[in-house]
Amino acid sequence: ATTLRGHADARGVRIGAAVADGPLRSEAAYTTVLDREFNSVTAENAMKWDALEPNRGSYNWGAADRLVDHATSHNQGVRGHTLVWYAQLPSWLKNGNFTAAQLNTILQNHISTTVGRYKGRIYAWDVVNEAFNEDGSMRSSVWQDKLGTAHIASALRWAHTADPAAKLYINDYNIEADNAKSDALYALARQLLAQGVPLHGVGFQSHFVLGGVPASMKANLKRFSDLGLEVSLTELDIRIPLPASGAELAQQSTDYKTASENCLGVPRCAGVTAWGLTDKHSWVPGTFSGYGAALPYNEGYGAKPAYTGLSNGLNPN
Ligand code: G3I
Repeated sequence: ATTLRGHADARGVRIGAAVADGPLRSEAAYTTVLDREFNSVTAENAMKWDALEPNRGSYNWGAADRLVDHATSHNQGVRGHTLVWYAQLPSWLKNGNFTAAQLNTILQNHISTTVGRYKGRIYAWDVVNEAFNEDGSMRSSVWQDKLGTAHIASALRWAHTADPAAKLYINDYNIEADNAKSDALYALARQLLAQGVPLHGVGFQSHFVLGGVPASMKANLKRFSDLGLEVSLTELDIRIPLPASGAELAQQSTDYKTASENCLGVPRCAGVTAWGLTDKHSWVPGTFSGYGAALPYNEGYGAKPAYTGLSNGLNPN
């Protein structure tokens, strides 16, 4: 049977998975599935600021380099995740009480250093992650509070200077439907484009609950695509109340197909990334108590009905 990456390659799109460093290093089944089925990878944690620069001025590239090297040797592209975020900041930065001018310099240096290191090896960066509240206002963060919304344009410009070929994204969750949050992002995207800011894509994380793929998703993605932006599903998973029944696994398969078709049916959809590959290593049970089974492979690395749904969503025939 054709693999996920076989279908994706045939369509010229990306099928990705978030990768955790632990299993990448230690589980043969993990890399076997990853390399057979996926033509793109995202570091689940290794490129976040707290992982890269736990102490000021001393970078720790080990896990990030390992993933980029792995991808290169298995003919996979890399999505970079993420440069500007309110969370997973090192404590020296979180608690540093820096002035606006200092923060601006700190952010510029971080972006230039990180994007510059992987220049030419990362095809897309989630430059800005989760900048909005659910009501469409800007989320409070060290960046927003001290630098205002202008930090978003600055970050995109710095990233573009460091790697002019990388596609630069704003990424968020609960923006898959047409709602207050996606309306606010749409307004910001239009404004940035009108100002000539190098914004190239919008990442729709797509952390769904079973049966919860929004009815307005395709039309919502299309309005961003109509601005000339790429659209991608960047963190797809579909959580189920545990234990998952056969009927629920079948519904999940339908949901994976619908979600991937909602992207691939829109012009300028660059691809779909799942937030992991196996239920054995998923953030879901640790965050949503009583939920899990969110990914295309079960804990024993068996392909679930969700795998077939995703495969059918990628394969137009
Ligand atoms: O690295 C430390 C380790 O040193 C320590 O011993 C251990 C003990 O708790 O924690 C480890 O850090 C954990 C890290 O994952 C790496 O495993 C953090 O506690 C844990 O909070 C962190 O969770 C990650 C989460 O982002 C943090 O916000 C999840 O794995 C990751 O899947 C999740 O990914 C996010 C995306 O980046 C953005 N969108 C939402 C998505 C899901 O929350």
